[in-house]
Amino acid sequence: MKITEALLAEHVVFHNLFDYIERAAPRLRTLAELRALAGLLEALLEAHGKMEDTLVMEPLEQHLDQLGQNEAVAAEHAEIDSQLAQVRTTRDLKKARAMLHGAVVLSRQHFDREERVIFPLAEKWLKSKTLQTLGTEWIAKRKQVLG
Ligand SMILES: [Fe+2]
Ligand SMILES: [Fe+2]
Repeated sequence: MKITEALLAEHVVFHNLFDYIERAAPRLRTLAELRALAGLLEALLEAHGKMEDTLVMEPLEQHLDQLGQNEAVAAEHAEIDSQLAQVRTTRDLKKARAMLHGAVVLSRQHFDREERVIFPLAEKWLKSKTLQTLGTEWIAKRKQVLG
């Protein structure tokens, strides 16, 4: 499997999670519930992001730098993290809900950039054999998680 196919499959899981959070968050009445949902999103984004950085962004670094994509991606990561951190720290329920919603909106835009720009560039600039090798690394890293 190519790394781009593996990561796209992970994206589908995230799109389902984004839909769920958008449905569930308006009904939540406590900070603890909103924080739990934000914490779940944060943990999953972190695991996915690390994998993506190592297996796609780094091999493409030079090309992405020239296109200004590295900067854009890093700025989006920071913005999503900051919104989620505010869900963790605010004592205002409405603000926490707005920040969680904002993090989901930003995450959707960010995932869209990866799907429309980054993954197609990976397919264009990396050799098919490299994409397969990176896919095999992805499987190995996933196996480590499973123990
Ligand atoms: Fe990302
Ligand atoms: Fe991604």
